[in-house]
Amino acid sequence: WRLQAPLIAEINRLKREKNAVILAHNYMTPDIFHGVGDYVGDSLGLAKEAAKSDAKIIVQAGVHFMAETSKILSPEKTVLIPDLRAGCSLASSITGADVRLIKQRYPGLPVVTYVNTTADVKAETDVCCTSANAVQVVEHVAREWGVDRVILIPDEFLARNVARQTDIKIIAWQGRCEVHERFTAADILELKAAYPNAQILAHPECPAEVLEVSDFAGSTAAMNDYVLTRKPKQVVLITECSMADNVAVDAIDTEFVRPCNLCPHMKRITLENIYESLVHNRYEVTVDPAIAARARVAVQRMIDLPP
Ligand code: 13P
Ligand code: SF4
Repeated sequence: WRLQAPLIAEINRLKREKNAVILAHNYMTPDIFHGVGDYVGDSLGLAKEAAKSDAKIIVQAGVHFMAETSKILSPEKTVLIPDLRAGCSLASSITGADVRLIKQRYPGLPVVTYVNTTADVKAETDVCCTSANAVQVVEHVAREWGVDRVILIPDEFLARNVARQTDIKIIAWQGRCEVHERFTAADILELKAAYPNAQILAHPECPAEVLEVSDFAGSTAAMNDYVLTRKPKQVVLITECSMADNVAVDAIDTEFVRPCNLCPHMKRITLENIYESLVHNRYEVTVDPAIAARARVAVQRMIDLPP
């Protein structure tokens, strides 16, 4: 990706000229992540940066729900996404109307929603969570509401993985991440046999059977910290392919074994369309102000939770 240096330099020049920042998710390719990302990280980290940034323009190098979250937290800023087709199988698994029906079915129970959802869904939510803080959010909200059951939607696997770690009963939905649902326990056992000394780190959007045979489960930021602080000799990151490529740049003593799955939505974002996005101010992501105001309460409650 060093061949892309002129384009990277031009994007960085345009950012300064236009007072823009690029928020880059861990699943961006290394040319984007290391070359032009001003803030890089997991969904929780990017949401926090969107709230803090004083730039005029945010370019979201990630998927549409992340750009919506940035707009919800920074309504006065222009939020751009370089390709409007960068969606997410979890976000498209549920609508605001679905959440209203769930609430009718389970009156009096709090609704915790994964940030991988549309603004419409967040507007029906009591508090959002990410894969980094889901257990903490569920336990907090159950205590606050004085209940022993919590609705946690839409990722069925994240819900099951949270349920394994808490006494709170979880009511789930059937959404799945098309990238992580494809990993199986058999894949992991095969890896363990072939690389007995490798540490296996899996994302909580994977099926529960996968996490049961892995050494560690955590968000993309948690995987990053694990590799950089514990410095394992050999590691497998059970997640999207760019994750290992990005961490590997900073983890020179670790060998990465690389079975991985590509997210077609994340991969719609390229250096070329980031450049076009900055030149033409496209594609602007807007959220109905009334929906955004309600969604903001749910996202802000998550951000304000004690660490
Ligand atoms: P995190 O970065 O929050 O772990 O989420 C992973 C993901 O799938 C985002 O689309
Ligand atoms: Fe959605 Fe999964 Fe792609 Fe993340 S990796 S954007 S959760 S489909």
